[in-house]
Amino acid sequence: SNQRLRAEAATKFEEMASAMLSEGLKIYAGSTYRSYDYQLGLYNRYVAQDGFAEAEKYSARAGYSEHQTGLAVDIADLSLDYDNFEKTKEFTWVKHNAHKYGFILRYPKAKFHITGFKYEPWHYRYVGDISEYIYKNNLLDIYKEKIKEYLEK
Ligand code: DAL
Ligand code: ZN
Repeated sequence: SNQRLRAEAATKFEEMASAMLSEGLKIYAGSTYRSYDYQLGLYNRYVAQDGFAEAEKYSARAGYSEHQTGLAVDIADLSLDYDNFEKTKEFTWVKHNAHKYGFILRYPKAKFHITGFKYEPWHYRYVGDISEYIYKNNLLDIYKEKIKEYLEK
């Protein structure tokens, strides 16, 4: 209830969560919009904890986090245990259906060489209608402009 996303993304997230609820699955928006200062504190804490090189693989620097756009959401199940989210039924559902609501898995395992971030099964990014195309073609939203050009041809 204290989480914030841009209106369009919030509406779609709620639609998705409701659809899941009707199948007995429950998800939470664990982390959504973050301010620059919040991300700065988070990043600095991770660097202090795990060292610069390691932190860089899972935490964005302040000013570079997708969470600052209000379009990213860390999805959790009832346990709020991100490390084990991948093993839940909720994850399986989200993985196969989030694109129908405009969301894509933002940091897939096989895309580390492009994103620079480790696999985050919980981190979804709202991209709107293009999600279907991105999902089906196993792309990343950083190619959005190129994808649009392609679709308009
Ligand atoms: N964990 C993601 C990459 C972030 O910090 O925005
Ligand atoms: Zn995230």
